[in-house]
Amino acid sequence: MEIKKIQNADVKNKKVLLRVDFNVAIENGRAKETFKIAAAKETLEHLLDQNAKVALISHLGRPDGKPNPEFSLEQLIQDAENILGKKIKFISNCVGEKVAVGLGELNDGGVLLLENVRFYEGEEKNDENFAKSLAENFDVYVNDAFSVSHRDQASVTGVTKFLSSCAGFRLQREIAEMDKIKNNPEHPAVAIIGGAKIETKLPVIKFFEKGYEHVLVGGKIANEAIDQKIEFQSEKVILPSDFLGDRFDIGSETIQKFKDIILRAKTIVWNGPVGKFEEAPYDTGTKEILQAIITSGAYSVLGGGESVEILEENNAMDKISFVSTGGGAMLEYLSGNPMPGIEVL
Ligand code: 3PG
Repeated sequence: MEIKKIQNADVKNKKVLLRVDFNVAIENGRAKETFKIAAAKETLEHLLDQNAKVALISHLGRPDGKPNPEFSLEQLIQDAENILGKKIKFISNCVGEKVAVGLGELNDGGVLLLENVRFYEGEEKNDENFAKSLAENFDVYVNDAFSVSHRDQASVTGVTKFLSSCAGFRLQREIAEMDKIKNNPEHPAVAIIGGAKIETKLPVIKFFEKGYEHVLVGGKIANEAIDQKIEFQSEKVILPSDFLGDRFDIGSETIQKFKDIILRAKTIVWNGPVGKFEEAPYDTGTKEILQAIITSGAYSVLGGGESVEILEENNAMDKISFVSTGGGAMLEYLSGNPMPGIEVL
């Protein structure tokens, strides 16, 4: 799919609304993960180099269309400044006069962070008037948030009706990586799918069953697949044959089987932990799988909030070829489902 790219867009001296995804877990007032915030850096620097006036827009959690301090993006100011290395000013609204004033007062090199866009019902409803008010203070819209691009919401799609729009560098890279593992994986190729909600993972398991040599299934979805007696078309899909505890983790025989396959792979895609990784010893399977992926030297792509958490905890972010910011978005893209946020570009 050909999309409009930031490197071809005229952003010089423009007022730019930059859609990022700062939807991160917060603990004691600090971001628990830094990765999604850092993902905005390249695009932000390009815009500032072009003398653009930039306002960052994001959602945080699911505040149900109402203001709620628990979900205020103001909490992330300090972390965002540290991670992005910029002076960031918080604006307590994402539309209207406050945004206009903030842009007017912005110093060179400064950036605005707008309040949670999901404080307005119009965001999730993709209300046209709301999208118009998001756009009214700006000249250009840049989407750099792959992880929300499966959403048909005002700050992802609606706003593009009113502004010249393009994809940021991070979004472009995510699409290229997803296309590579989807269309041109080096074989043998292995997908490891874990986590919860089998109904959301079945389409992606089926997709990989067609083109990959193996699909290794662990985590809660493995229990769900067994309990629901789900049948897969081929023996390429491998469910655990033994468990640890009350099916809280894959057992040693399964770990060995999975590792043998992983170590022979040339491409590995991983989404979702294979056990209850937040509670030892049920993190054993997930840690062993991670180690095997690293040892294999295969081209590895990983996504999903929990998988990223595992990488950060094990200092393994730089040992994986590409880490996606997308959890749900990655699954949707790989399953071939529509990605409205990309299609509009
Ligand atoms: C994510 O964290 O996956 C994105 O921010 C999407 O969040 P949502 O599932 O609440 O739309």
